[in-house]
Amino acid sequence: MARYNKLAGKHVLVIGGSQGIGRGVVDGAIEAQAVVTLVGSYRPNLPPTAPQSAQKAIAQIKALYPSSSVIGLSCDLATDNVEADLENIFVEAKKAHGQPVDHVVLTAGDPLVMLAPKDITLEKIRQVARMRLELPTILGKVAERHLEKSRECSVTISTGGIAEQPNPGWSVTAFMAAGLTGLARNLAVDLKPIRVNAVEPGPVDTGLWEAIGLTPAQKAEQMKMWDGKLPTGKVGDVVDVAEAYLYLMRDRNATGEIVKTRGGAHLI
Ligand SMILES: NC(=O)c1ccc[n+]([C@@H]2O[C@H](COP(=O)([O-])OP(=O)(O)OC[C@H]3O[C@@H](n4cnc5c(N)ncnc54)[C@H](OP(=O)(O)O)[C@@H]3O)[C@@H](O)[C@H]2O)c1
Repeated sequence: MARYNKLAGKHVLVIGGSQGIGRGVVDGAIEAQAVVTLVGSYRPNLPPTAPQSAQKAIAQIKALYPSSSVIGLSCDLATDNVEADLENIFVEAKKAHGQPVDHVVLTAGDPLVMLAPKDITLEKIRQVARMRLELPTILGKVAERHLEKSRECSVTISTGGIAEQPNPGWSVTAFMAAGLTGLARNLAVDLKPIRVNAVEPGPVDTGLWEAIGLTPAQKAEQMKMWDGKLPTGKVGDVVDVAEAYLYLMRDRNATGEIVKTRGGAHLI
C-alpha cells in the first residue's frame, strides 16, 4: 500500500474548483486518485441551455481524465443563504460519490475590489466580506458537521499576499486577507482534530485578473511586469500553486499553518 499518496480514494471537495487555482487543485487531486466534487458559481442570467461553469469544467476534466470520478455543482455562495447552500453541497457530494467528504478546499472568490479610502463605503466593505469573511467562516461551521473528527480530514482556505504586503487601494481586501489567516489558525483549535490551514498565494496567472476588469492585453502586461520583478522570473502558475493545497491535505501533521507560494514576492 502506498504510504505517501494519502489522497488515493479520498473525497476532495473544491469550492471554487471550476477554474483558476481551484481547478488546479481538482486536477492534482484527480491525478492523486482522489474522488472529487467541484463547485462553481451559479449564474441565473445564462440562457437555459448554456452550461454553468461547473458543467463546463466537468466536460474538460472528463476529456483529460476519462476514468476520473468527479462531479460538479453550481451555487451562488455570495448570498444570505450560504449556510443552507453549503449544507446542501456536502449532502449532494456525499450522495453522488457514496462517501463523505474528507478534505475541503475553498478557493471561491469573487473579483477583487480595489478602493481608495475616499471610495470606501459600508456597502462595499460588506460586498468584499461576503466571500472573504462570511463564506469561509460559515464553511468552518458546516464542515464541522460533515467531516469525520480526525486528523485525516482537513479544511484549507485561501488568503493572499496582500495580508502582509500593503498596496495602495487594497486596504479592505488586506483586512480580509489578514483576517483569513487568523480564521484558519483559530478554526484549527475549534475543529480539532480536523486540520484547518490556509494557502497564501502571491500573484497567480488566473482569470481573476480579467474578472477585475483587465483586458487580455492589460493582463498580459501585468503578468509580464510580475515576470520581470519576481525572483523566480515567472508569475505563479496554477500547477505550482495547487501543490500547496495538495500538500496541506496530505500532511496530517499540519494544522493552523499558512503555506505561502509567492515567487519570492516578499523579497522585492
Ligand atoms: N490569482 C491570484 O493572483 C491570487 C493571488 C492571491 C490570492 N488569490 C485568491 O485565491 C482564490 C482563488 O483565486 P483564483 O485566481 O483561482 O480565482 P478565479 O480564477 O477567479 O476563480 C474563482 C472561483 O470562484 C468561483 N466563484 C466566484 N464567485 C462565486 C460565487 N458567487 N459563488 C460560488 N463560486 C464563485 C468561480 O466560479 P466560476 O468559474 O463560476 O466563475 C471560480 O471557481 C481567491 O480567493 C483569490 O482572492 C488569488
